[in-house]
Amino acid sequence: MKIFLPLLFLTFFIGCYKQTINSVNTKFPEGRKLYLSKCGGCHRIYDRNEYEPAQWDTIVVSMRTKAKTTVDQEREMLLFLKERE
Ligand code: HEC
Repeated sequence: MKIFLPLLFLTFFIGCYKQTINSVNTKFPEGRKLYLSKCGGCHRIYDRNEYEPAQWDTIVVSMRTKAKTTVDQEREMLLFLKERE
């Protein structure tokens, strides 16, 4: 029973994260889709506001071999990640 409550909270917070990024308004839904499918396998989905647009350039390149992305996919993802409301 002691383990149950923390697990419930964790599920709740992870749920919220996904929801935030899915419900955010974007001109680049393809980029979001790619980001969610390519980048969420190994760690949590970082919010795009957690990093500056210039940092995303570096991050996406450094994750290239891990995520097996093509240049086209990276361009699409970066449009989404660097977009600011
Ligand atoms: C195969 C597993 C894997 C995939 C796929 C992956 N990552 Fe990562 N990512 C890691 C690991 C491991 C770390 C932590 C160690 C490191 O920095 O290399 C990390 C760290 C990060 C960080 C934190 C960097 C920091 O400065 O703390 C960000 C942001 C990130 N990844 C974004 C992405 C993005 C964007 C994609 C998709 C293009 C992606 N990751 C795909 C394994 C992965």
